Amino acid sequence: MMDPTTQLIAADEKAAGIAAQTLARGGLVAFPTETVYGLGADATQPEAIARLYQAKGRPSFNPLIAHVADLAAAQAIARFDAQSLALAQALWPGPLTLVLPKAQGCPVADLATAGLDTVAVRVPAHPVAHAILQALGRPVAAPSANLSGHVSPTTAAHVASDLNGRIDLIVDGGPVRVGVESTIVACLTVPTMLRPGGVPRGDIERVLGMALAEPAADTDPDTPLAPGMLASHYAPRTKVRLDARQITAGDALLAFGAPAISGAENAVATLNLSPRGDLIEAAANLFGFLRALDGKGARGIAVMPIPHHGLGEAINDRLRRAAAPQD
Ligand code: TXA
Ligand code: MG
Repeated sequence: MMDPTTQLIAADEKAAGIAAQTLARGGLVAFPTETVYGLGADATQPEAIARLYQAKGRPSFNPLIAHVADLAAAQAIARFDAQSLALAQALWPGPLTLVLPKAQGCPVADLATAGLDTVAVRVPAHPVAHAILQALGRPVAAPSANLSGHVSPTTAAHVASDLNGRIDLIVDGGPVRVGVESTIVACLTVPTMLRPGGVPRGDIERVLGMALAEPAADTDPDTPLAPGMLASHYAPRTKVRLDARQITAGDALLAFGAPAISGAENAVATLNLSPRGDLIEAAANLFGFLRALDGKGARGIAVMPIPHHGLGEAINDRLRRAAAPQD
């Protein structure tokens, strides 16, 4: 039985339009790609991205892949060099994700890239995914459509068993073809394989005419083997102080909720993640506000306590990383 809040539709000729409308409203749509089913949200809407993390139950904000309809759309969000362009031309559409510098004016929300200056982009080779991306005309952030910690779904039934009642729409396009996630290659310095996947290493190396580099050993003790995390985390230059109970002169204040904080009038700048104490709104604002306060030349950024339930866990996880001493 489907939960009344999650609609399941067949991938017929009307499906792409319905899916695109749902995404444009900020809704969450599971759809087939050739690798696995993705859980999509409009990548330009931070609140939709926050709801996506919440629906997956992710305890941290991992950067997401932005899916687009074609290379031209990819070039509007990411900067290609000769090597990444060659890979895109040879292997897109297909199960290859490229991690690239963000293009100037990249509309992808900071929350979708976890505040990084890079963006993961992919042009999927599935007619249903393509039709949805074409109809929306905006990038769609989509992790695999499973609960955090579960395996990636290859049928609409897998998606429903994890996410029924947590998302707006499931587009059933039958079982997927590839069944493993996309291969992720970073083209930032030398082309580096971040995650093996649907495109074999040899196919990529043949296009490049050289071997792919291996990622440097991950230094993050929480997620030693998590793919993608080696690209490091967004960290403000200004020192971040968590669970602040009072503000001293020279601090910038990252507030949460309604209660006043002692000394707030001393703050050189104040931004409130969510005056009404809503964690979805707070997550949507998190990276943008950290960046904004980082630019104020404050002595430190004082962050008010943020509850740990729901998206609060991921928000606190990111804030802890931002507060950790840098090398
Ligand atoms: O086949 C796939 O790739 C599927 C379908 C739905 O497209 N998607 C998928 O997404 O597997 P997800 O979220 O489960 O995995 C995305 C990976 C994560 O390991 C993440 O860390 C990495 O991509 N990633 C995303 N943006 C990145 C970035 N800017 N730098 C480094 N790694 C990044
Ligand atoms: Mg996944």
